[in-house]
Amino acid sequence: MSKSLPDWEIRPEAPGDAPAVEALGAASFGPGRFAKAAYRLREGVYPVERLSRVAMENGVLRGSVRFWPVRVGGKESLLLGPLAVETAQRGRGIGISLMQAGIEAARQGPWGSILLVGDAPYYGRVGFSRLAPGQVQFPGPVDEKRILGLSLKPGGLADLTGAVRRAQIDEPVCADGAGVG
Ligand SMILES: CC(C)(COP(=O)(O)OP(=O)(O)OC[C@H]1O[C@@H](n2cnc3c(N)ncnc32)[C@H](O)[C@@H]1OP(=O)(O)O)[C@@H](O)C(=O)NCCC(=O)NCCS
Repeated sequence: MSKSLPDWEIRPEAPGDAPAVEALGAASFGPGRFAKAAYRLREGVYPVERLSRVAMENGVLRGSVRFWPVRVGGKESLLLGPLAVETAQRGRGIGISLMQAGIEAARQGPWGSILLVGDAPYYGRVGFSRLAPGQVQFPGPVDEKRILGLSLKPGGLADLTGAVRRAQIDEPVCADGAGVG
């Protein structure tokens, strides 16, 4: 079969995928990932299980995307990332497809927006755009030009202002996206 055909499929991440997802994250971002502002927002918090997606090809993990719950000025939002694709498999559309699948699932949930820190030319392909300077503040130093957002509902980004904070550690997000006690 030709290599250019999309032989991979996107499916929800399953519990058994975690070791491969974590290995891909380590290979893609290295130990520096723990120092990133985004990591501080994830520390001790579970990703939103029903939004996590993996790309599989012949039983092999090719890519992964996860989303984390965050709070911005008292509102619930999502943080996209990490997004990673196996080095040898990049440029096949896997990253975009992973994000599209996760974003589509997020539209069914209660959130009004998704935030991320990344390159606008790439994430613009799935609808992200730069936020106004100072609109939100991430913990730690972040290049403002890399703070991007996507509205999931009309006005979902317009009224999002303030500090981006971790979801409460004692408040895991269950499969339907709702916070539980
Ligand atoms: C970023 C990443 C996920 C892209 O995955 P991918 O499967 O190669 O992406 P796609 O195939 O869907 O898209 C590739 C296209 O996006 C472009 N692109 C990739 N990264 C880009 C970037 N940072 N800025 C602008 N364009 C970018 C490619 O040039 C390519 O363009 P083309 O379609 O015109 O050839 C992958 O390179 C990766 O895992 N990188 C290391 C981890 C990382 O940096 N993750 C993102 C930060 S959380």
